[in-house]
Amino acid sequence: MYLPPFCRRSEGPVSDTARAAWRRASENYLAHCAREANWNKLIEIPAMREMLGDSGGKTTLEVGCGPAHYSVRLATHGAEVHGLDPVPRLLEAAAQNAAEAGVELHLREGGVERLNEYPEEHFDIVLFPMMLEYVDDLAEAFGQARRILKPSGFVAISVVHPMRSFSDRHEIDGAELAVVGHYLEAGIIEWAEWIMKDDNGDPIWCKSHRRTIEQYVMPLVEAGLAIDQLREPDATPGAEELNAKIVASNRHCPQFLLMKARKRGG
Ligand SMILES: C[S@@+](CC[C@H](N)C(=O)[O-])C[C@H]1O[C@@H](n2cnc3c(N)ncnc32)[C@H](O)[C@@H]1O
Repeated sequence: MYLPPFCRRSEGPVSDTARAAWRRASENYLAHCAREANWNKLIEIPAMREMLGDSGGKTTLEVGCGPAHYSVRLATHGAEVHGLDPVPRLLEAAAQNAAEAGVELHLREGGVERLNEYPEEHFDIVLFPMMLEYVDDLAEAFGQARRILKPSGFVAISVVHPMRSFSDRHEIDGAELAVVGHYLEAGIIEWAEWIMKDDNGDPIWCKSHRRTIEQYVMPLVEAGLAIDQLREPDATPGAEELNAKIVASNRHCPQFLLMKARKRGG
């Protein structure tokens, strides 16, 4: 199967290796988050915020919250906010971001395996932002999300778009094109690009699931969640002035896939 440099075929489960990699790369991720015009800020975050809607008076849980930029914003808009992440340094950053914004977050250290500790029908929104690649059992995670959602609740998901996931990039006439090979040969990949490098530039190998769109949609539907929105967002107006290359590249092949799915029979 064709894979770009710094990606290699691997075997599961991914969970422990991915957590260890995120621990080692936590400072790099925080530096990425601090960048003014990164991919997330220009494309994913505005679309996700639109999908989340008004959060006043809601109770929310952000799974894999990292530094919790979503949760901090939800809390400043009046939500009671919970966050879960296995990386202590990222939770520390989340607490600091909350303190600076003058809001309270209920943070817990751990991964999706701790979803079973939250009470039934407790949350209006369960967010899975940019983290499902590190979850081995989507059926279990979505089943737990359905259990802890109120009858009127929904899940909000963002992932790297499967057409972009572990694709190779080529620059043609100044535009970056993504070339994905063997799309249906999904599976487990190890990668060591972007933030997954140590201070010496040596690779931090991180395991991830490379999934097709079908492999995200079917576990959601089978868990009893009905998809209300599926989005492949364009960049926000004005983004071109901040980073024209990212905007053009995203138009050639979308960088993010977002879904909103409500509790069926709720
Ligand atoms: C790309 S970051 C996203 C962080 C945050 N949601 C955001 O959008 O900035 C991926 C996050 O997934 C977390 N993570 C990795 N494995 C996880 C697991 N099994 N359960 C929950 N979170 C996990 C990492 O610690 C990291 O914070």
